[in-house]
Amino acid sequence: MNSPTNQVYPVIWHNESVSLIDQTRLPREYGFVEIHRCEDMARAIKTMIVRGAPAIGVAAAYGMYLGAREIETNNRDEFLNHLEKVAQLLRSTRPTAVNLFWAISRMLKIAYESLGTVEEIKQNLLNTAQTINAEDLQTCYAIGDYGLAALPKTPEKLTILTHCNAGALATAGYGTALGVVRSAFREGRLERVFADETRPRLQGAKLTTWECVQEGIPVTLITDSMAAHCMKQGLIDVVVVGADRIAANGDTANKIGTYSLAIIAKAHNIPFYVAAPLSTVDFSLHDGRKIPIEERTPEEIYKVGSTILTPNGVEFYNPAFDVTPAELIAAIITENGVFAPGELANSQVKQVA
Ligand code: MRU
Repeated sequence: MNSPTNQVYPVIWHNESVSLIDQTRLPREYGFVEIHRCEDMARAIKTMIVRGAPAIGVAAAYGMYLGAREIETNNRDEFLNHLEKVAQLLRSTRPTAVNLFWAISRMLKIAYESLGTVEEIKQNLLNTAQTINAEDLQTCYAIGDYGLAALPKTPEKLTILTHCNAGALATAGYGTALGVVRSAFREGRLERVFADETRPRLQGAKLTTWECVQEGIPVTLITDSMAAHCMKQGLIDVVVVGADRIAANGDTANKIGTYSLAIIAKAHNIPFYVAAPLSTVDFSLHDGRKIPIEERTPEEIYKVGSTILTPNGVEFYNPAFDVTPAELIAAIITENGVFAPGELANSQVKQVA
């Protein structure tokens, strides 16, 4: 598959540091934050300068290297001891996206398995972070291709509804759900994308629309509460969303509002797909009940910009993710093929396209 010319890469390794697209400033400003230290990477993940499950995984992998680089000892055991603390700091940033924990575990494993000097272990860690980055990009291309093949055959040009941002910004590049959209666009199978604004952080309004506009992909923004009405009017052919953590039975945690979208898609007989890399599947969880759901600051819901919306005396609840039960999901699109939620166990073996 060929990559688009004006592709967005949210996490870029330079010789000494990591450049992150500052996603908190888009679409007003397109700029980068330079990250030299692990502590700054942890803060960038927490404050959502970098966000989206796969991108968080890539950022955390580089964070592990940056943390390793700061450890001043030649003693292997002492080094590994300190590296565990670096891992702990990065793990404490956001609880739901399993890619974070997956990437940190992979980096730790490399460190423990590396024989040789501390300097050599550090070099292996950098190589592994770069590999995780490169692999995720290839994974997104494969998801785009498999997703394109799995889309309904009629109508010829599809209108795809997506939620939040599961695009290039949320991955190493290209995207998962938006990767499927990109592939459909490239092959002339896309009529347009409907982007849910995605309250309260507005990733749909700010990031998904921005990505589409960069590439001339026709996009229509709606507020989250308009999705059912649009479906009833026959404006939506298929829903494709990303994921932050998928349990072994296919229950899927994704941005808050995904669950209600799946319910209304079912009510209107519209296929609902999840597009995600296998690094998002948490096989240690049988189902979605134990997926940790991040709760964020109430400020995100009682304020719009600098305006406070509510009177004093109101209580708030701001879960950032919800879990869509497997039975509402038509299929899960991965880099190894497209699987019914109940068949995820087979996903370790690559399907023939
Ligand atoms: O809180 P965010 O912006 O990190 O949440 C992002 C999402 O929920 C995405 O849909 C998910 O991480 C998949 S990104 C390919």
